[in-house]
Amino acid sequence: MYVGYGGRMGVSWLLLFLSVAKVQADSNLTSLVNLFIGTASGANGGSGGNSFPGAAIPHGMAKVGIDVSTAPRQAGYISDNSSITGISLMHDEGTGGNTNGGYGIFPLFPLINCNFTSCPVGLSARQALRAAGTDAASPGYFTSTFVNDIKLETTSTRRAGLIRFTFPPSATSNHVVVDLSNDLQRSFHGGVMSIGPNGRVQLQGTFLQSYGLDNYTAYACYDFIQPSNNKSSPISTYGTYKSTSTSSPNTITISPITNSSTGSLSFPFTSNTNPTQAGALLQFNNTLTGGVVTARFGVSMISSQQACDNAESEIGDEWNFDGIRETSRSMWEEVLERVGVDTSKEDKTVVELLYSSLYRATLVPANLTGENPYWVSSDPFFDALFCSWDTFRTVHPLLSLIAPREWADIVRSYIDGWRHTGFIPECRANTKDGFVQGGSDGMPILGDFATKYHQFSGELAVPTDDLYQALVDTAENTPPDWTRVGRENTGWKTFGYIPTDWDDPSGSVGLPTREASRAFEYSVGDFGVRQAAIALNKSVDDAEKYTNRSMNFVNMWDAGLVDDGFQGFAQRRFTNGTFAFSPPNACSPIDPVSHSCARGTDNNVGFYESSSWEMSFFAPQSMSTIVRLMGGEDTFIQRVDHYFSKGYFQAGNEPSFAVPWAYHYANRPDLTARRVRGVVYGNFGTGIGGIPGNDDSGAMAALLTFHLLGLYPVPSSTQLLIGSPFLSSYSIKTSVSSTQTFATTVRVANFDSGTLVQNPANNTRLYVQSVTIDGNPWKSRCWIDFWALLNSTEVVIEVGSDPGVDVGCGTDEGALPLSLETGGFGAPIPTGVNPPNER
Ligand SMILES: *[C@@H]1O[C@H](CO)[C@@H](O)[C@H](O)[C@H]1NC(C)=O
Ligand SMILES: *[C@@H]1O[C@H](CO)[C@@H](O)[C@H](O)[C@H]1NC(C)=O
Ligand SMILES: *[C@@H]1O[C@H](CO)[C@@H](O)[C@H](O)[C@H]1NC(C)=O
Ligand SMILES: *[C@@H]1O[C@H](CO)[C@@H](O)[C@H](O)[C@H]1NC(C)=O
Ligand SMILES: *[C@@H]1O[C@H](CO)[C@@H](O)[C@H](O)[C@H]1NC(C)=O
Ligand SMILES: *[C@@H]1O[C@H](CO)[C@@H](O)[C@H](O)[C@H]1NC(C)=O
Ligand SMILES: *[C@@H]1O[C@H](CO)[C@@H](O)[C@H](O)[C@H]1NC(C)=O
Ligand SMILES: *[C@@H]1O[C@H](CO)[C@@H](O)[C@H](O)[C@H]1NC(C)=O
Ligand SMILES: *[C@@H]1O[C@H](CO)[C@@H](O)[C@H](O)[C@H]1NC(C)=O
Ligand SMILES: *[C@@H]1O[C@H](CO)[C@@H](O)[C@H](O)[C@H]1NC(C)=O
Ligand SMILES: *[C@@H]1O[C@H](CO)[C@@H](O)[C@H](O)[C@H]1NC(C)=O
Ligand SMILES: *[C@@H]1O[C@H](CO)[C@@H](O)[C@H](O)[C@H]1NC(C)=O
Repeated sequence: MYVGYGGRMGVSWLLLFLSVAKVQADSNLTSLVNLFIGTASGANGGSGGNSFPGAAIPHGMAKVGIDVSTAPRQAGYISDNSSITGISLMHDEGTGGNTNGGYGIFPLFPLINCNFTSCPVGLSARQALRAAGTDAASPGYFTSTFVNDIKLETTSTRRAGLIRFTFPPSATSNHVVVDLSNDLQRSFHGGVMSIGPNGRVQLQGTFLQSYGLDNYTAYACYDFIQPSNNKSSPISTYGTYKSTSTSSPNTITISPITNSSTGSLSFPFTSNTNPTQAGALLQFNNTLTGGVVTARFGVSMISSQQACDNAESEIGDEWNFDGIRETSRSMWEEVLERVGVDTSKEDKTVVELLYSSLYRATLVPANLTGENPYWVSSDPFFDALFCSWDTFRTVHPLLSLIAPREWADIVRSYIDGWRHTGFIPECRANTKDGFVQGGSDGMPILGDFATKYHQFSGELAVPTDDLYQALVDTAENTPPDWTRVGRENTGWKTFGYIPTDWDDPSGSVGLPTREASRAFEYSVGDFGVRQAAIALNKSVDDAEKYTNRSMNFVNMWDAGLVDDGFQGFAQRRFTNGTFAFSPPNACSPIDPVSHSCARGTDNNVGFYESSSWEMSFFAPQSMSTIVRLMGGEDTFIQRVDHYFSKGYFQAGNEPSFAVPWAYHYANRPDLTARRVRGVVYGNFGTGIGGIPGNDDSGAMAALLTFHLLGLYPVPSSTQLLIGSPFLSSYSIKTSVSSTQTFATTVRVANFDSGTLVQNPANNTRLYVQSVTIDGNPWKSRCWIDFWALLNSTEVVIEVGSDPGVDVGCGTDEGALPLSLETGGFGAPIPTGVNPPNER
């Protein structure tokens, strides 16, 4: 439903306002979020979702939570019985990267029953076990209790927060350690700390990024004396500590400050990791504190003064823990209710999965606006784009559906990255560019924005000319080193594919491997430019050029190669045009030979974290081409079936995301419906192991959300594939500006909860029979247009037990999902659509 507001409050707007107000008063969707999904250890074959279960606001920079002693622990936390090493201020969500973790900076640690000689301030000496079953979290809040009965709680704003320790009454002393040097990676490269009698600790530290070779500098500010409550200081003693020798860092000297002066520590930047244990120790007068010590913190990437300013402006002087917590909760409530369901009616597990997924999909990217250390700009600055390779497929399309205003800020940050570096950022995290995994996958993100929201670019303050130039520059120019941003465009443009045995004569360098999978991704990136060129009314020449480049994936197609009885596979190619053979099962889960499949220089198969068996399905811009190249619909269906039954599917990694939906392109949505049920119930759940791989900055969460809603996004397009929803009804609310909101309901007629199993019985009503939009029949049972969906009042998806094999996607023109080759995305239509050995 489109609710317009042009200076006059329309009746429908008023009704919407009233109904939204009512929902807000009643709803408690945050109570349905399970923050511990995906926190199982990734060690010893565990699922390793690497989810972050601490306190944060949506897209918050501050992500406060406990860190544990055992790795892997990319987000600091693991649901096991390992001990706590600290409670720290920033974390990533679900990423890979360094197995010890990213961020985890400037932790606090509470101690009892010790003194300034004996307190175990060092990392290994102080760590302590959690009391069983005491970890608990809800959006905006985290708590845990140590075996010695110290309770910790935390809540946060965007760049600040509160950490509260409740000490046991029996304790003879209450101490808190402020740790300067230990981030999760133990990668301290230097820093500065000061502590004064006013209870303020200021910190600056340089640490290594999680996915890359660079370092970053972060700042924090802690206050331990609440301004309104400092007539007599609750701090009875304070001081600094540091290891006396870096070669034996367990010998730690604690120096009390006895004369009301300021203590400081300074470690100059070194190119090697400095193993020093260093920080501050404070003792609190438990008569004055009542055994409750609260720390207010701020974080910054600019200066420790700015970290203090952030704490003062965002938390204020009241240190109102419950108030901050409630504000964070209500921010989450507002995000979650953009997808509305009747929680009393729908399946409980589906509801928990849905809201937990929406939560994780909107934790990152992190809003570091005002904290950009590298250039001055009035544009937003976002971090934890870790990586666009992971997030372009599902996270950004989900934001486009429920959060265009937040998404516009993120898109502007991508554009601003190009404006100041020449290229769209790919994997910025810890404020530094990470490694490029495949293509420059910010391209499909910007292409998607232009395609969906060009008509609202004014309201959303996105400069579309800059957006387009960012796309063209990233599509055309080759950076001197395409390891961290950009693409190997010289080779791509010269050959129409990425040659295997070739050096760029211009001297540009980068990791030359992953030629086949990069070519497929570059094609999807160029499709983003094509779609933006058309949406933004750029030149016909550009539209034609990028349309043809979108098809260059066929240049990697070895049409004669046969494997498992199926013919035609993506392969690497030499400059002379000859294909370089690698087994199509290489790097699949059942690869009989061990291959390097990631970014190692020894990756000699041409594919990144995927196999030829899988990547050969990856051309969402022209799947009809893939169906044709694989031998037509029947063979294609057998091949998708074989991919699953033989074990080539890898649920826990991004290149697999779209394959369960591939049957749609062979006119068999019934097979997709069955396959998606199998994938969801076979791989996802509400337990700590409920994510099949790393959550990857919410990529898995957004994927599951789409599966449950019965929708799947096609990159850089307004096309959403339609599946069989896991809910009988849901509403979507999409706010483009403070006065323009689209609100629609998707109702599943004849919904059958008997289909909510891994392998639904044949007589259950699993299959889409028809789709109507506001009572009018829609032309396809396989896809719906983004705006047709959002700009309606009600979409009815009728389901039944008839698989409808004869009808497939429908009998009307345009019923099949769109493909470039068959004119699906409009003119221009590509010219070269055949692989080299079929020309
Ligand atoms: C939400 O639900 C939880 C769990 O049922 C409850 O503890 C909490 O008080 C509720 N919050 C609100 C604001 O209704
Ligand atoms: C933690 O320890 C408890 C009690 O010893 C045990 O029941 C539980 O399974 C352990 N949890 C993990 C994740 O190891
Ligand atoms: C500090 O604690 C240690 C260990 O309990 C004890 O031996 C020492 O006497 C204490 N020092 C003071 C000054 O109380
Ligand atoms: C508490 O200390 C702050 C500075 O740390 C000062 O501005 C404030 O006036 C003090 N408040 C009281 C009540 O003394
Ligand atoms: C703690 O505060 C009380 C009340 O102001 C005071 O009497 C006592 O001396 C303080 N203790 C220490 C160790 O500072
Ligand atoms: C206070 O102590 C510090 C170090 O312990 C010392 O450097 C400083 O000179 C002392 N200040 C005064 C005024 O005594
Ligand atoms: C740390 O970062 C700075 C600035 O990017 C760079 O000059 C320096 O070489 C880096 N050092 C290390 C050890 O990474
Ligand atoms: C990011 O932070 C800025 C500055 O506070 C704010 O204006 C903007 O709304 C935030 N955007 C998101 C998506 O959080
Ligand atoms: C699109 O561009 C053409 C020429 O570049 C121009 O004539 C036409 O008015 C433009 N259309 C729109 C809708 O801006
Ligand atoms: C193409 O180049 C590769 C690698 O140098 C070589 O092995 C192959 O024999 C060449 N093919 C032809 C037809 O020359
Ligand atoms: C559904 O029917 C097909 C053949 O008609 C059969 O092969 C399959 O096992 C049945 N599936 C279930 C879950 O009963
Ligand atoms: C929504 O529908 C209205 C009425 O048909 C139309 O004027 C408007 O352009 C549509 N908006 C979008 C974004 O498609």
